Amino acid sequence: MPEGVKTRILRVDSLRPDLDKLREAAEVIGRGGLVAFPTETVYGLGADAGNREAVMRIFRSKNRPADNPLIVHICELEDLESLAREVPEEAYRVAEKLWPGPVTVILWKSSEVIDEVTAGLPKVAIRMPSHPIASNLIKLCGVPIAAPSANLAGRPSPTTAEHVIRDLYGRIELIIDGGETLFGVESTIIDVTVRPPRLLRPGPIPVEELERVLGFGIEIPAYARGLAEAEAALSPGTRYRHYAPKTPIKLVEAERYDDYEAYASTVSEIAEREASKGLRIAILASRETSGYYSLRGFRVLVLGSRENPYEVAKNLFRVLRELDDLDLDLAICEGFEEKGLGLTIMNRLRKASGHNVIRV
Ligand code: TXA
Ligand code: MG
Repeated sequence: MPEGVKTRILRVDSLRPDLDKLREAAEVIGRGGLVAFPTETVYGLGADAGNREAVMRIFRSKNRPADNPLIVHICELEDLESLAREVPEEAYRVAEKLWPGPVTVILWKSSEVIDEVTAGLPKVAIRMPSHPIASNLIKLCGVPIAAPSANLAGRPSPTTAEHVIRDLYGRIELIIDGGETLFGVESTIIDVTVRPPRLLRPGPIPVEELERVLGFGIEIPAYARGLAEAEAALSPGTRYRHYAPKTPIKLVEAERYDDYEAYASTVSEIAEREASKGLRIAILASRETSGYYSLRGFRVLVLGSRENPYEVAKNLFRVLRELDDLDLDLAICEGFEEKGLGLTIMNRLRKASGHNVIRV
């Protein structure tokens, strides 16, 4: 416990949050404290975005490198206008159609945004979350809230209060337990200061939907797909190895995934080969193919159905944490078709595997 902080845990109903409890949480933030709270994506670790000392504590408490900027969370559109130097039409379109919700926009920052938040960058990331606990908390704080995901740096993002407790208990003042988060993956991030707008991180809102809202195409750089070649791009937010479970992961990518039986048999052969070296392994699989592996005696962790990528995204980080709890030597992981939410899933899986990818 580096800081030896006494951590309180407040249980709050996520649909109809008790405002008295959230007021207590807002007071903690007002005093410069750190509060973990659920959003519709993952749990965030919040502090007053205007308080330098508190913002610096966010970095220390989760061992985050000081040059990795934070997202500023707001609850009304006026805040967008005071935090950004200029708000292009694209940002208004995103705000109008997708806020509050799981999308973050990158804009030129105004002088109101302190350098500690943006890690010295001239741009700021802004998001208006829709989770009732998050939005009410921000409202009660009366100030924008800087918040990264509430995990220790390098661990998968937390989708339950238990995950936050395991990573940050004794390091922060308060954890609001509002149950499981809805999407389970972090927000979609789009830079609207450039033309065409650039996707920095795929999230719950698929690119296809963003393009519909914006009315034109978005650039999808290789790093947004989580491809290894892009690691050298050194763009903020892409240079750190995220979602790194302790257990090594081998990701099996295929041209197509629609022939379940053929794909499962290929994955199975790879798993047999690894197991024959004496490695204790698990397979991370879709529900459709999980039976194929368990019949062959493999330990299987089910990510969700191929028919419902939202389910896979929602379970992903929890499954990665469960995998680590099993303390195995290796996991073989199935890939998913890279369209819609599949892009988000593959971005996270490629990063989690440290780009240990086999193409079949
Ligand atoms: O859903 C989410 O976005 C969650 C919840 C809590 O809101 N937050 C979250 O924060 O995932 P974090 O810090 O774990 O990820 C934010 C990403 C980082 O990769 C960071 O580098 C990038 O956003 N980012 C923040 N400000 C940026 C900026 N000015 N330019 C480019 N990237 C930025
Ligand atoms: Mg994070």
